[in-house]
Amino acid sequence: MYNRENFGSKLGAILAAAGSAVGLGNVWRFPIITGQNGGAAFIIIYVLCIFLLGLPIMISEFLIGRHTHANTAGAYRILSNGSAWKWVGRLGVFTGWFILCYYAVVGGWTIHYTYLSAVNAFAGVDAQEYGNIFTSFVSNPWLPALWLLVFIGVTHVVVVRGVRSGIEKFSKVMMPTLFIIVILLVVCSVMLPGAEQGIKFLLVPDFSKVTSEVVLQAMGQAFFSLSLGMGCLCTYASYFDKSTPLAKTALNVSFIDTVIAIMAGFIIFPSIFNIGMDPNEVGMGASLTFISLPNVFQKAFCDGSLLACVFSVMFYFLLFVAALTSTISLHEVATAYVSEEFNVSRRVGATVITCTVAVLGTLCALSFGPLSGITLFDMNIFELFDEFSGSILLPLSGMLIAIFAGWTLDRQLYRDEISNHGEIKAPYFKVLIICLRYVAPVAVCVVFLDKLGVFDFLK
Ligand code: PFF
Repeated sequence: MYNRENFGSKLGAILAAAGSAVGLGNVWRFPIITGQNGGAAFIIIYVLCIFLLGLPIMISEFLIGRHTHANTAGAYRILSNGSAWKWVGRLGVFTGWFILCYYAVVGGWTIHYTYLSAVNAFAGVDAQEYGNIFTSFVSNPWLPALWLLVFIGVTHVVVVRGVRSGIEKFSKVMMPTLFIIVILLVVCSVMLPGAEQGIKFLLVPDFSKVTSEVVLQAMGQAFFSLSLGMGCLCTYASYFDKSTPLAKTALNVSFIDTVIAIMAGFIIFPSIFNIGMDPNEVGMGASLTFISLPNVFQKAFCDGSLLACVFSVMFYFLLFVAALTSTISLHEVATAYVSEEFNVSRRVGATVITCTVAVLGTLCALSFGPLSGITLFDMNIFELFDEFSGSILLPLSGMLIAIFAGWTLDRQLYRDEISNHGEIKAPYFKVLIICLRYVAPVAVCVVFLDKLGVFDFLK
């Protein structure tokens, strides 16, 4: 057994796990997929995915972590009794570390855009110019790397301080800050003329848009957004104490994550409709966040005004905080792994991870500029990291976790952990097991095959 800390409170545990879940995915993907795929109809499907797939897997990751009180690789090794399933934990750690390398690059971009907003660099800029601003920033020979290093440096400082005085303390300050910023931004945004149209776009259900493709998107999004499949929740749960209710904590984390994602839609769409832009043309991910939205916010809140400036600063700072609490969780997975499996101090473990991420992250950060010539399958380094993790590592690791939890974990161990050894009732136990054995593995397999392009091929 390892010598380790625990979270000091249940609230701290929930906020830390919610910090991992709430990230860029909530802001730059969820609202757009929702608006374009049937509004409330999509949200209903998404919530169903959370109940049938997300919660069972999240509870399993919690249970595996708390039962073993070990880093993810150690946890699977302990539970796999020498079988090949131990590789699932290692795959989870590798996936988390790999994602961290490019996710932190985008974290760096959020710092740059917070800075640009604060110096009012977007005032009076022509709509077409925003694309150039972004391109010239990401292709700069050193600036994206500098911001990446700052971002990973901040992550390092939090992680190295430990579970209680680093991660928990930070989450307890940053998550409420994030909620307050979200509420302020929603209030400003829904007061804009024409906001109702934006809210309608997000919420009015249109079931005719729900296709099998949309269901697959909902499953994939739920998976990424809840931080499943990378050992984050397993690692955090290894710091839960024995009285933490696992199912309730998972429900709270999923609830917070979904509410923030929907609120992000309330921030984005009213402004888009206010300036008469077509929501189907604003893009998704980086192009939405760093090209469309700075323009939208300037125009919606009177170009060059103090309000436009403050709104923009708050928005990018929000993204920064959301990304940071997620990278902290990714970093912790790898740090716990290195320090426990190689028997070194936490400081050394964290430093090893920070250095490796700094090197690979720098390659990703410069892959739109000086390193843009390095490509494979027509993708630069950043895009390769994104594609490899999103289409292969993540769904593969998720699928194996779902199968491991459903088919190999001892049923009695499951019952004991869920009920805290009989202290809390778990009337949903049977349904949970059914979801875990049949629904979740099948669903995640389908997502995996979809990401591999098997269905396109069949078509
Ligand atoms: N859930 C985060 C998001 O929605 O952006 C991303 C993420 C963080 C995924 C941590 C996985 C993870 F382990």
